[in-house]
Amino acid sequence: MQQRLQKVIAQAGITSRRKAEDLILEGKVKVNGKLIKELGFKVSSSDTIEVNEIPLIKEEKVYFVMYKPTGVISAVSDDKGRKVVTDFFTDVKERIFPIGRLDYDTSGVLLITNDGDFSNLLMHPKHEIDKQYIAKVEGMLTKQEVNQLEKGIKLVDGITAPAKAKVISFDRKKQTSIVQLTIHEGRNRQVRRMFEAIGHKVKKLKREKIGFLGVEGLRPGEYRVLSIHEVKRLRALAQTNDWRLKY
Ligand code: URA
Repeated sequence: MQQRLQKVIAQAGITSRRKAEDLILEGKVKVNGKLIKELGFKVSSSDTIEVNEIPLIKEEKVYFVMYKPTGVISAVSDDKGRKVVTDFFTDVKERIFPIGRLDYDTSGVLLITNDGDFSNLLMHPKHEIDKQYIAKVEGMLTKQEVNQLEKGIKLVDGITAPAKAKVISFDRKKQTSIVQLTIHEGRNRQVRRMFEAIGHKVKKLKREKIGFLGVEGLRPGEYRVLSIHEVKRLRALAQTNDWRLKY
């Protein structure tokens, strides 16, 4: 696959894309020994790139699944100094970031990588993979409300796409319900907003699965490397996923 030179330089982690463009225009970048001053010049993985006469070291792609705890931001930094998910990866030197986000108060499966293409593939609205959540909500959910969740809920940013919903249990004393909800969209605070729209405030939320992938064997804050097979399966799921066939 061919990519723009400035993008490849930025992805190597030495600078931003803007600064990479400046470096190219200033004549500081060579491809296969030849000076390139053209923005948008395309390179492939077999090309050798030098910046200021120093060869660019290609970062290996890394893929992790993390059990995100509550009380942590799904980001690589936070201007308020709160803990972020990448703080847990002290022994990883690659420039990793989370794929999508879970709310500060949500726990569960989170994918972490340094592969921008993989992240874009999984996040693309057309490809979005099923995400299974388990929510503890206030009140007792009725059959009609379960149907409503499945058919679509009117939110300020539009009606939600078809989903799967199932009541797992009720606590009559505490007046709460445990509900499993599977959605494939990834709107901001979508699950909480869907329940709130039908009058059930979410008290606790966990993402149990992304596609086939869960957090079995991990405790909150722990992570593991994904196998090549798991990465391939996620890619295949995103590429072949047509949720319209399933709902
Ligand atoms: N939906 C939410 O409301 N919150 C999350 O963290 C994920 C999905």
